[in-house]
Amino acid sequence: MQIIRKIEKMQRIADNLRRQNKIIGFVPTMGYLHKGHLNLVKLAKEKSDIVVMSIYVNPTQFGPNEDFSKYPRNFERDEKLAKEKGVDIIFYPRSMYKNNLTFVNVEKITEILCGASRPIHFRGVTTIVTKLFNIVKPHYAVFGQKDAQQAAVIQKLINDLDFDIKLILSPIIREDDGLAVSSRNVNLTKENRRNAPILYKSLCYIKEQIDQGKTDLIQLIKQARKMIDDIPNAKIDYYSAVSYPELKSVSKLEQKTLIALAVNFGSVRLIDNMIIENYWQLTKTNKNEQGKLENRN
Ligand code: PAJ
Repeated sequence: MQIIRKIEKMQRIADNLRRQNKIIGFVPTMGYLHKGHLNLVKLAKEKSDIVVMSIYVNPTQFGPNEDFSKYPRNFERDEKLAKEKGVDIIFYPRSMYKNNLTFVNVEKITEILCGASRPIHFRGVTTIVTKLFNIVKPHYAVFGQKDAQQAAVIQKLINDLDFDIKLILSPIIREDDGLAVSSRNVNLTKENRRNAPILYKSLCYIKEQIDQGKTDLIQLIKQARKMIDDIPNAKIDYYSAVSYPELKSVSKLEQKTLIALAVNFGSVRLIDNMIIENYWQLTKTNKNEQGKLENRN
């Protein structure tokens, strides 16, 4: 496994790989690797000859009062895990911004959910991801559904700026108690860690109710919020239902509905989500199609 620290060197390696017709799979991360990140590597390996992982805690996606300085870092540990998982190249830049005056901004869908309380966050994400795409020159880029809004924003970035890159989405990897794995989980106090699976439990509650035929999302979210309000130290930032991947606010199930939430436990912000496919509607459509076929026969 190679560790590359210079932007120009990474670009030359990517050029050479492309000249040899090698398929490059890319996994961008901020490090402090966990099994969620490692699943992205697994998916990247399935599609490509060479897997490049970037490790960079990107300052432009953190607001002034956010946890940039407290974000966990441990390169030696990351290096070991990445090597074991079969990463070929770690791109580990020292700095990515030299008097940067250019930023990339996806509009509208970055103004809601996480974007509402983190106004500069997605501009930082799309700027760094654009830079990384220009440095690593991947054919495939793998992102996690854990950050569902980020994935929708990156897909829009790829479409709108004509990047010749395919996005692969990994399902959310969870701890045994349901908590979505996250680098930030280590910053939770013992008590908050014990209570944190409530995010997933509340999502499962909504899913169960939908499976039983309930369709009023506003009512369901109200009940789910109550489950979290009852937990000490848990402060809900948002709990919303939006169409996916358009991210428009909805009160009824869409073909694909994203139920997403962010909760602060002290200074630790946790997010989680579930995408619900509207199989009630699908079943109805299938039945109609079936009916049409039967009538024709
Ligand atoms: P980071 O939080 O390190 O996450 C890197 C990738 O891992 C993201 O695509 C994220 O969605 C995915 N991921 C994290 N936890 C996951 C889980 N439990 N299951 C599945 N996938 C998971 O997201 C970022 O870094 C940054 O914003 C970045 C894209 C690197 C830009 O700086």
